[in-house]
Amino acid sequence: MRYIKGIAEDEGKIVTLKGWVSNKRDSKGIAFIILRDGSGFIQCVVSEDVIGAEKFEPIKRLTQESAIAITGNVVKDEKQIGGFEIQGTNVEIISVAEEYPISNKEHGPDFLMDHRHLWLRSRRQWAIMRVRNRIIFAIHNFFQSKGFVQMDAPIFTCNASEGTSDLFATDFYGEPAYLSQSGQLYGEAMAMAQGLIYTFGPTFRAEKSKTRRHLSEFWMIEPEMAFYDLDMDMDIIEEFIQYVVADVLVHCKVEMETLERDTSMLEKVKEKFPRITHHEAVKILRGEKDVNGKNALKMLEQDLIDVNEKADNNRKEITERETKISSGNLKKGEINFNQSAIDKLKNANKDLDMLLENIPGWYESAKSFSFDSDFGGSDETILTRLFGTPIMVYNWPGEIKAFYMKADNENPSLARGVDVLAPEGYGEIVGGGERETDINRLLSKINEHKLPMSAFEWYLDLRRFGAVPHSGFGLGLERIVSWVCKLDHIRETIPFARSYGRLTP
Ligand code: 4AD
Ligand code: MG
Repeated sequence: MRYIKGIAEDEGKIVTLKGWVSNKRDSKGIAFIILRDGSGFIQCVVSEDVIGAEKFEPIKRLTQESAIAITGNVVKDEKQIGGFEIQGTNVEIISVAEEYPISNKEHGPDFLMDHRHLWLRSRRQWAIMRVRNRIIFAIHNFFQSKGFVQMDAPIFTCNASEGTSDLFATDFYGEPAYLSQSGQLYGEAMAMAQGLIYTFGPTFRAEKSKTRRHLSEFWMIEPEMAFYDLDMDMDIIEEFIQYVVADVLVHCKVEMETLERDTSMLEKVKEKFPRITHHEAVKILRGEKDVNGKNALKMLEQDLIDVNEKADNNRKEITERETKISSGNLKKGEINFNQSAIDKLKNANKDLDMLLENIPGWYESAKSFSFDSDFGGSDETILTRLFGTPIMVYNWPGEIKAFYMKADNENPSLARGVDVLAPEGYGEIVGGGERETDINRLLSKINEHKLPMSAFEWYLDLRRFGAVPHSGFGLGLERIVSWVCKLDHIRETIPFARSYGRLTP
């Protein structure tokens, strides 16, 4: 079998490619087919003169997503996607598709998610899945090359690790069990056996939040390192994210181009990530401290002006195009073109209107943010926009963090946790920190959090038998894919998203 990826090696040769018609136009005895075979996209030109009228006739009737085998000469052509073209000498039809529901025109996100099983074939989705794949590969490469052992944590658990409010309950032979929110506690046990470990598995959160960052089922990478303190933890997090992003930049050039991702921001990830305490971060958010001459609140005020202007311009353009259509002077193709542009503008304005509605609330929340609170999505966006690289926020108020976080020696009300917030408004991609080793502190935390002590006896054993300082973190795979691809919504980062209100297809 030959595939589109790697077609450069076949330049000047005759090859046969098997795939699907992702797009086709034909006129005057020549058909231009964009073929996709899973590995890539390529233009194929088939002419009636070459293959004969009898073979050409059925090609005219080929619909989008019909499957074909095409034989032809591989010719270099810089203008075409992928830089090559197939000049067809034969076409075999494998199956003719019914009318395909997804076309080039603008579809709403609900429609596309309802057709996710088909949507996955489109070029953008194809590119996103390839980036996801490369990120997974890079993650394993990074940890394996450093001597980490991958170990898997159970999915059925009898206890909460991250808090009791967002657990999915199931029935485990008549006993209640919960789908795992995090493999961390098990990771700690495994690190005491292997030194350096990471888990990589699905995790579940029953938050009823419909945001562009939340999934109910997502994949998390959770390294855990014996003898690491918080500073060492932050060092390896930084090195890890830099490695993964650099790897994608090298290996996913075609995908980044397909996604029209401006990679200049990703290049900056090479620089050191600023490390700021939660207290400092709150000051910045409240507009009491500038960053590189930028002020969080002033930027929001400017946003309001910019968004208003953009929405106004869009409305003007919609009216102009509607007037053109109703003039009756346009050809069918021109009407379709204008209508599709109008639909796009209307969708864009829905988003802008939502922003206009939300910004005043975000502004208020930022301005009066309290020093013992956790950041919400909007706060993270406001904060991270001021920086070019990811930032690491550490030393959090203990009250708002999980029970297992180590209390700071100098100020025990602070937890030695760290969150990594991605730039460009993406917010938290990593949560981690140093773990509490003092068994008495842990006992009182478990009580404070009203967690069932019996479920944590095994965890406490880790402190009874050879306790050592240790740290770890969790990276949300879909969060990093979303940022690296610069997507509007996390639902496109996973083949079949599960989120509040979405269980199909
Ligand atoms: O911050 P979280 O809740 O931390 C933990 O679970 C720790 N036990 C990790 C550790 O130290 N081993 O989650 C870690 C990361 C977040 O930073 C985010 O990237 C991702 O998991 N995440 C989600 N991703 C998608 N949808 C959700 N609902 C997510 N919740 C967390
Ligand atoms: Mg977190």
